[in-house]
Amino acid sequence: MSIKVTPLHPKFVARVEGVDIACDIPDADFADLRAVFEKHSVIIIHNQNIDDEKQMIFSKRFGELEMMAPHLGNNGVPRHISVMHNEDKDGNIIPPDDKRMIYQSANMIWHSDSSFKSIPSLCSMLHARVLPPKGGETEFASMRAAYDSLDSKMKKFLEHKVVIHDFANTRKIVGGQLSEWQKKNLPPVRQALIRKNTVTNRKALFIGGHATSIEDMDKDNGKALLGELLEHATQKAFVYSHNWNVGDLVIWDNRAVLHRGRPWDIANYKRILHRTTVAGEGPSI
Ligand code: OGA
Ligand code: MN
Repeated sequence: MSIKVTPLHPKFVARVEGVDIACDIPDADFADLRAVFEKHSVIIIHNQNIDDEKQMIFSKRFGELEMMAPHLGNNGVPRHISVMHNEDKDGNIIPPDDKRMIYQSANMIWHSDSSFKSIPSLCSMLHARVLPPKGGETEFASMRAAYDSLDSKMKKFLEHKVVIHDFANTRKIVGGQLSEWQKKNLPPVRQALIRKNTVTNRKALFIGGHATSIEDMDKDNGKALLGELLEHATQKAFVYSHNWNVGDLVIWDNRAVLHRGRPWDIANYKRILHRTTVAGEGPSI
């Protein structure tokens, strides 16, 4: 495969051309793509004409798929595809104050998918199906750039710290409801604050909306530090904003970036993207 790689930001993110997800990509070509993923953290591929089945087959090249828990965003039905949408089953726009939209609005908080699981995810991919005329971008922030720019004293202080990530935290922020399944099955978990990529040796901050406290630190001080780190890590210089086209497939490394959705006129326009999430290879600690 002669893939063409074009960096889209000084710190991370690359557009890849010459890939057709719908086809069976040869192993050697997939290895090239995987190397781009490890290096650039976010891959943008335009014009992909795929259905859920094709998206799942391609996603599995990266590893095992995570099963989405039964929740308000998928009508309580667990499956490998998670749909970001504001359309009900009759094709009407779901009102912004509906509990399903409040639940999904937690996606607008900076986060790493599944950082609340004891084995956090490797990557996620979103495929754009229906888009509003403006708004609804997805932003990505490089946690490697954020880590690199800390001073050496702070890097040393953070090195072996453990952070508690709790799914309930992001829902609490937006006032969303957890399902009974989620209450029972998603207890707070411990994660390394600094993660090292074993392919590139780059270190990244592992923080975001699910992060609630730092072990062995006073609760308020830990929370305040997490807040300061998040603000530092999501400053403009480390952020890429993706303006979607229908057919775009975006793959991101949940170990190395945070992401968040941006608002659009949700009362008047539909926005539908389908997501797969690939499980990580082990705990972060
Ligand atoms: C996600 C997510 C943001 C968006 O699908 O994991 O956070 O822009 N989406 O829809
Ligand atoms: Mn997400």
